Amino acid sequence: MPHPDQAPLDLAVIGGSGLYNFPGLENATRQAVDTPYGPASGDVVLGDFARKRVAFLARHGESHTLPPHRVNYRANLWALHSLGARRVVGVNAVGGIRGDMGPRVIVVPDQLIDYTHGRITSYCDVEGAEVRHIDFSEPYTEALRRQLLAAARAAGVEVVDGGCYGATQGPRLETRAEIARMKRDGCDLVGMTGMPEAVLARELALEYACLALVANFAAGCGDQAEISIEEIFAHLAAATAEVPRILAALPG
Ligand code: HPA
Repeated sequence: MPHPDQAPLDLAVIGGSGLYNFPGLENATRQAVDTPYGPASGDVVLGDFARKRVAFLARHGESHTLPPHRVNYRANLWALHSLGARRVVGVNAVGGIRGDMGPRVIVVPDQLIDYTHGRITSYCDVEGAEVRHIDFSEPYTEALRRQLLAAARAAGVEVVDGGCYGATQGPRLETRAEIARMKRDGCDLVGMTGMPEAVLARELALEYACLALVANFAAGCGDQAEISIEEIFAHLAAATAEVPRILAALPG
């Protein structure tokens, strides 16, 4: 529940690589949140943005110190939920597999396949917790996906509607053979942080959708011999610059 002296939250945003703070957030305050699952990636920053009360959390920490497989996804979602968040947008850097998902393209995926391993993927993973088998046929909240697409349209930002996000373990990038297999499986995008974030949000009954920012063509999909981290961050910076415009146009 929200703290009694705080306005209820309209939106929570989890920033990925390249998005470590929320530009334009006014009256910002920071809040450390204790969770039963250990520490979140950092303080949650609360503030006002485009007539919305927003909570922001940098998934990898504000200095990008947490690799994807070491992010405490359970603590992050729990922290946002305990501050009163009901609607969460995850911003995720990805590689593009599908031909029309090249660098700087922004995608609102509608499906995912999980290739990660060794991550804690459920709040049931605690001695004595009730075992639940939640429905995950549609891993993203369709109403929120629609809101993101409409907001992007209203803001004049081009986004692709739908696509399958393949979540890999990282932190290394994939081999060409791995990406070829993912393509055969039906993946359009590849990223390292989409899971278990999406399923934990569902377990907490949060509305959740993903804004996937394409940083590079995935291994073997573009004409590059090698993927450089400089290239990734340059493209990410350009795509990230569009994110506040999209979120500003989201309804409160
Ligand atoms: N693979 C996995 N995750 C990524 C990539 C990639 O090529 N680019 C940005 N995040």
